[in-house]
Amino acid sequence: MSKKTNDEEQHHRPLFEVLSQHRKREKVSFHVPGHKNGVNWDEHLTSFHTMLSFDQTEVSELDYLHEPVGALKESQDLLGKLYGSKKSYYLINGSTVGNLAMIMGSTTKGDQVFVDRNCHQSVIHALELAELRPIFLTPELTDSDTTPLGITLALLEEAFTHYPSVTALIITYPTYDGMVYPLEELVAYAKKRKCFVLVDEAHGPHFTLGEPFPASALDLGADVVVQSAHKMLPSLTQTAYLHLGHHVPSHIKYKIEHYLHVFQSSSPSYPMMLSLEYARYFLAFFNENDLRATLAYRDLWKIQFEKAGLKIFQSSDPLKLRVSWENHSGEVLAAQLEKQGVYSEKVDQFTVLLTFPLLKQTTEVREPFSIQLPQHSKISEIENKKIEFPIASYTELDLSYESQASSRMKRVLLVDAEGQIAAQNITPYPPGIPFVLKGERITIEQIRQLNHFIKQSMRVVGLGNKMELTVFSEND
Ligand SMILES: Cc1ncc(COP(=O)(O)O)c(C=O)c1O
Repeated sequence: MSKKTNDEEQHHRPLFEVLSQHRKREKVSFHVPGHKNGVNWDEHLTSFHTMLSFDQTEVSELDYLHEPVGALKESQDLLGKLYGSKKSYYLINGSTVGNLAMIMGSTTKGDQVFVDRNCHQSVIHALELAELRPIFLTPELTDSDTTPLGITLALLEEAFTHYPSVTALIITYPTYDGMVYPLEELVAYAKKRKCFVLVDEAHGPHFTLGEPFPASALDLGADVVVQSAHKMLPSLTQTAYLHLGHHVPSHIKYKIEHYLHVFQSSSPSYPMMLSLEYARYFLAFFNENDLRATLAYRDLWKIQFEKAGLKIFQSSDPLKLRVSWENHSGEVLAAQLEKQGVYSEKVDQFTVLLTFPLLKQTTEVREPFSIQLPQHSKISEIENKKIEFPIASYTELDLSYESQASSRMKRVLLVDAEGQIAAQNITPYPPGIPFVLKGERITIEQIRQLNHFIKQSMRVVGLGNKMELTVFSEND
């Protein structure tokens, strides 16, 4: 575990302290929010009242996220110290806003950038807003079940010989499934090519704890790192961190700060920021005994899954594992688990992803219980077809963002879309990784795969009930 923890200074929770004082001082609220510390909140929901009394606005002593000089500055500085960054920021619109600000702040219109094809839609949206020229690198697949992993050094080196002027490498680490790959060598090579390294570490805010968790992107030399605190730490949904590495030049820092200002609400939620502070504090004092309790709890569940006859794939991240049920699809297994009150994070064709919490030794948790799967359930027709990624190791858009901006569009049925250029992303959710990219020519394999997702009742954002999509009308 990391030596960064247990620093006395980390006991300090400046935002919590100032909000607690404020709660005592404020006799009447003549300011937003409209619930005025919960006075007009439905009495049946009184358990919400404590939280509401922390739901403040930026009155004098409570500082302001967009220009922090007091409690929020101190609170973010403690975060930076824990993570060892040059500077760290609280985000109240998830890694989504972090990725937008990171990419827009670190690049210039028209730049060529390498992007992991397995990236989240927020990265794709940032590429478009920044009007970049992306070259998508196809990730390697895992040996065990061919789910996407990371890009290899060999691919990066080869890609640089074709695109020597690339200015940034944008990657996802770890993957949604909690898998890691040799990021250190990618960072080292990119640095040699004077290429900035931007990492979407949405699923790895806890990696800073050190072993047995994989190394964190910041520790491996990444320039800018974005993390969804809410995914793996005890903080509220939509909360995230952005960290700057020590070599980030000032002009990039200012640009990133500018875009955070542009994209984030001008009324940042205090409960969210409070939870970000709490998550930092929680990590700072997470000790060996807590780690043992965390892993023991996961292992007790593993025993239950094994007893139920499931196969377990442990991810690189000790807090993530996937389970599969022989001859059944992930969707069928997830439905059986839900019948017993067990809800999973994500389902794919063959597996169900489960994420476990970080626990303190003293945390009381629900004891793992046995899982009953039907003995003679009907064997589902799993199409033994894996998700198809673009065959080529690297691909460019068929229509640049610049040309897209002035192109006409039309609606077509998915069945008629082969060979047309998509004018929207089509994104199975979760994981929120666009399967068809805006600006990409649609292939028959993509159409088949999308039909398969729909047949399996997966949520596919972008197709609607009519199974239609928007494409660019090239001949108009
Ligand atoms: C890899 C990755 N990056 C970014 C995001 C966006 O994160 P958030 O929901 O915190 O905005 C997600 C969300 O699932 C994700 O999986």
